Amino acid sequence: MARYSASAEDKDTVFCFLVFQEIGELPKKTRLKNKVALITGGARRIGADTARTFINHGAKLVIADIQDDLAQSLCNELGPQSASFTHCDVTNEAHVKDAMDSTLAQRGKLDIMVNNAGILRQSSMSINITEVDPTEFEETLRVNLIGHFLGTKHVAKVIIPSRSGCIINTASLTSVMGGLASHAYTSSKYGVLGLTKNTAVELGKYGIRVNCVSPYLVPTPLVKKFFGLDDENISKVYSTLKGGYCMPEDVAEAMVFLGSDESKFVSGHNLVVDGGFSVTNAGFCIFEDTE
Ligand SMILES: NC(=O)c1ccc[n+]([C@@H]2O[C@H](COP(=O)([O-])OP(=O)(O)OC[C@H]3O[C@@H](n4cnc5c(N)ncnc54)[C@H](O)[C@@H]3O)[C@@H](O)[C@H]2O)c1
Repeated sequence: MARYSASAEDKDTVFCFLVFQEIGELPKKTRLKNKVALITGGARRIGADTARTFINHGAKLVIADIQDDLAQSLCNELGPQSASFTHCDVTNEAHVKDAMDSTLAQRGKLDIMVNNAGILRQSSMSINITEVDPTEFEETLRVNLIGHFLGTKHVAKVIIPSRSGCIINTASLTSVMGGLASHAYTSSKYGVLGLTKNTAVELGKYGIRVNCVSPYLVPTPLVKKFFGLDDENISKVYSTLKGGYCMPEDVAEAMVFLGSDESKFVSGHNLVVDGGFSVTNAGFCIFEDTE
């Protein structure tokens, strides 16, 4: 039988590991251990990063989306033991109910519902209120608000009997500030905040928490193109916390907190992830915007 003899380097590594463990500095990513999550709009970007981060923290999950190929390839990347996909258009009540049933059938329970699917239509951006197309306004509300409502309604039916679980809605900084996006998008996200607060009150008596996360602009190439931002003017938009931008993983980490037991007394909260953007008015501020 071959015998393993540890090198000095190996011994150093083991020693460092034990020291870090002892002083608690080596992060143990188990904050969602044994939890099952259902994530709508999980095929890409914020939803996909949330899926990756949840799995890194020990969760199992089902991704519900309309982009079958993309979602399936993400599940292949994450591993079938941890992630699976169900086709679900969040505006279709039967699909949403099926997504709950599918999660229960595949994973045996459901602890965390992440209502994340959302749309931002390009053509609505430059349109004044006098010109807004009602069809487009309704479409945005249908996905961004009705989708969250249906997800909340059907997960509540599943988790009320177990008297536990939580719901996390993806809102947006547009849920607290005007002038950042189209009328339709802003209205939909204010609606998500209202839904969050109202259901937090109703479902609190069952021990169920409902919160939302409100990301600032995530400057992916697509978003930069949409808002007409280049590398220079995007840094002017990000004027409060220097040294970075809001990335999907920042939103995902906020979701982990709200899904974990660390936030067991947090409900009805809107966790803004904006690097401090919304706490000041850049047009009237006593502090200079230079180091
Ligand atoms: N990107 C940003 O800057 C930003 C900022 C604040 C809030 N948000 C919100 O974060 C969430 C995710 O945004 P993202 O930037 O990752 O967008 P994205 O477009 O990259 O991803 C959205 C996902 O939702 C899915 N989806 C769309 N319509 C659906 C439907 N009817 N049924 C099921 N799935 C559907 C898409 O297929 C996609 O996978 C959205 O709710 C968005 O409003 C995004």
